[in-house]
Amino acid sequence: MSLFLALVLLLPSSLCHRTKAQWHTCDSGFSISATAMARNITHCRKLQTLGAELGINNYSTTPNSSTSIDVVFSALPPTPQGWIAWGVNPGRHPQMVGTRALIAFNQPSGMPVVNTYNVTADTRRGCKLEPSTIEVGVANKAANYSDETGRLTMAARLTLPPEYNVSKLNHVWQVGPRVVGTVPLAHAKTLHNFDSKETMDLESGVGHSQRHHDIGLREAHGILSVIGWGTLLPIGVIVSRYFRGSPIDTKNKWFYAHVGIQILAFSLGVAAWGIGLSLMERSGQYRAFMGHRIVGILIFCLATLQVMALWLKPKMLDKYRKYWNIYHHFVGYSLIVLIIVNIFKGYAILKPAPRWKWAYIGILIGLSCVALGLEISIWFVFLKPDDKKAQTNASDPSKTSNPN
Ligand SMILES: *[C@@H]1O[C@H](CO)[C@@H](O)[C@H](O)[C@H]1NC(C)=O
Ligand SMILES: *[C@@H]1O[C@H](CO)[C@@H](O)[C@H](O)[C@H]1NC(C)=O
Ligand SMILES: *[C@@H]1O[C@H](CO)[C@@H](O)[C@H](O)[C@H]1NC(C)=O
Ligand SMILES: *[C@@H]1O[C@H](CO)[C@@H](O)[C@H](O)[C@H]1NC(C)=O
Ligand SMILES: *[C@@H]1O[C@H](CO)[C@@H](O)[C@H](O)[C@H]1NC(C)=O
Ligand SMILES: *[C@@H]1O[C@H](CO)[C@@H](O)[C@H](O)[C@H]1NC(C)=O
Repeated sequence: MSLFLALVLLLPSSLCHRTKAQWHTCDSGFSISATAMARNITHCRKLQTLGAELGINNYSTTPNSSTSIDVVFSALPPTPQGWIAWGVNPGRHPQMVGTRALIAFNQPSGMPVVNTYNVTADTRRGCKLEPSTIEVGVANKAANYSDETGRLTMAARLTLPPEYNVSKLNHVWQVGPRVVGTVPLAHAKTLHNFDSKETMDLESGVGHSQRHHDIGLREAHGILSVIGWGTLLPIGVIVSRYFRGSPIDTKNKWFYAHVGIQILAFSLGVAAWGIGLSLMERSGQYRAFMGHRIVGILIFCLATLQVMALWLKPKMLDKYRKYWNIYHHFVGYSLIVLIIVNIFKGYAILKPAPRWKWAYIGILIGLSCVALGLEISIWFVFLKPDDKKAQTNASDPSKTSNPN
C-alpha cells in the first residue's frame, strides 16, 4: 500500500518536470569554444542526448527574408569511423524524415569532411543516403576531429529560407557507427537516438521536446509494470500455491486473496500496458523494440485469459475441472516467465540507474526465498506421517474445495 501511495505522489511530479535549456556563453564546460572552427560563436548549448552540443553566432533576421547564421555542432560518434549529423526540418514536427542535414565523418585519408543530405522516407526504409543539394544555403563547411576526446565537430554558415520560423525551428541530430564512401550507415535504435530532436527558439535557445513528457510516462510505465506484473502477480501465485488448503487457511480465504491480488496486479499491469501503447503512438516508432512489444502483447492476452477464469472456469465437480486447473497453472507460470523476461527487456531499453534493476532483482530473490521456504515447509508437513489431515491437504491441493 505504501508503495502505491509513493507511486501516486511520484507520478504527477515526474510528469511535470521540464528542463529549460538555454544559450550559455561558450566557455569551460563546452567542447565548442567561442573561436571553434574559426567562427565567432556567441551562444552555446548542450543538447539533451548523444553528448551533442550546438553553438551559433549572433544572427540577424528580417521578416520574409532569409536568416543567415553560423552553426557549430559537436557530438561523439560511437566509433572513430562513425558519423555525426545535424539538420533542420521545415515540416511541422522535428523528425528524421524531411530533414535537411549536414553530416560529417572521418575519411580514410584522415581529414574529416562535411556533406549535405536530403533525408527522406526512403532513407528511413533503408535506402542509401547519398549526398545531395538541399534547399538551405550552406557555405564555409568545415569539420574537425579530436583524437583525444573522440569528438567530431562541424561548422557551416546556413541561409535559412523564409519557410523556417526561427522562433520555432525544428532541428534533429544523430550519430552513427560507420560510413561507406559518402553513405552513412544506419544509426543505433535506442531511446537516445529517437529522442534527438526538438523545436527551438533560436533567439532564447529554449528547446521544447516531447521527451520531457515521455520521460514521465516511461517511468510510470516501468514502475507500474514492476509493481503490477512483476511483483503482485507472482505474490498472487504464491498465495494460491501455498495457502490453498493449508492448515492456517480454514475458511478458504486463499481464493479471495488470490483473486483480489491478481485483479489488483492486472489493473496496474493493464495501466502500464496502456501507457506503453501510448508511448509507441507518440514516438511513431512502430518498428522499434519489437521484442518487448510482442512479449508485452502476449502478457496482456494471457493475463486477460487468466482473469476470464472468474467466468469461464468449469464447475467444481465437472470432469474437465482437473484439466482446466492444469491449464490455468501452466498459463500462470508461463506468464511469470514472460513477465520477468519483458521487465529485463524494458530495463535494457530504458537504461535507468542500475539501482532500479537491482531493486527488482532483490524483489525476485525475496519472492523466490519465500516460495522456497513455503515449498520446503509443505514437504516437511508431507513427510510427517502422523499428521494425516495436513498431509492430504498439502500433498494434493487439487482435491481441496473451492468456494465457487
Ligand atoms: C581542430 O581540433 C583541434 C583539436 O581539438 C584543435 O586544436 C584545432 O584548433 C581545431 N581546428 C580548428 C580549425 O578549429
Ligand atoms: C570574428 O570577429 C572578428 C572580430 O569581431 C572579425 O575580425 C572576424 O572577421 C570574425 N570572423 C568571422 C568568421 O566572422
Ligand atoms: C551578440 O549579441 C549580444 C546581445 O544581443 C551582445 O551582447 C554581444 O556583444 C554580441 N556578440 C557579438 C560577438 O557580436
Ligand atoms: C511577408 O509576406 C506576407 C505574405 O507573403 C505579406 O503579407 C507581408 O506583407 C510580408 N511582410 C514583409 C515585411 O514583407
Ligand atoms: C528533399 O526531399 C523532399 C522530400 O522529403 C523533397 O520534397 C525535396 O524536393 C527534396 N529536395 C531536394 C533539393 O532534392
Ligand atoms: C513563428 O512562430 C511564432 C511563435 O509560434 C509565431 O508567433 C510567428 O507568427 C511565426 N512566424 C511565422 C513567419 O510564421
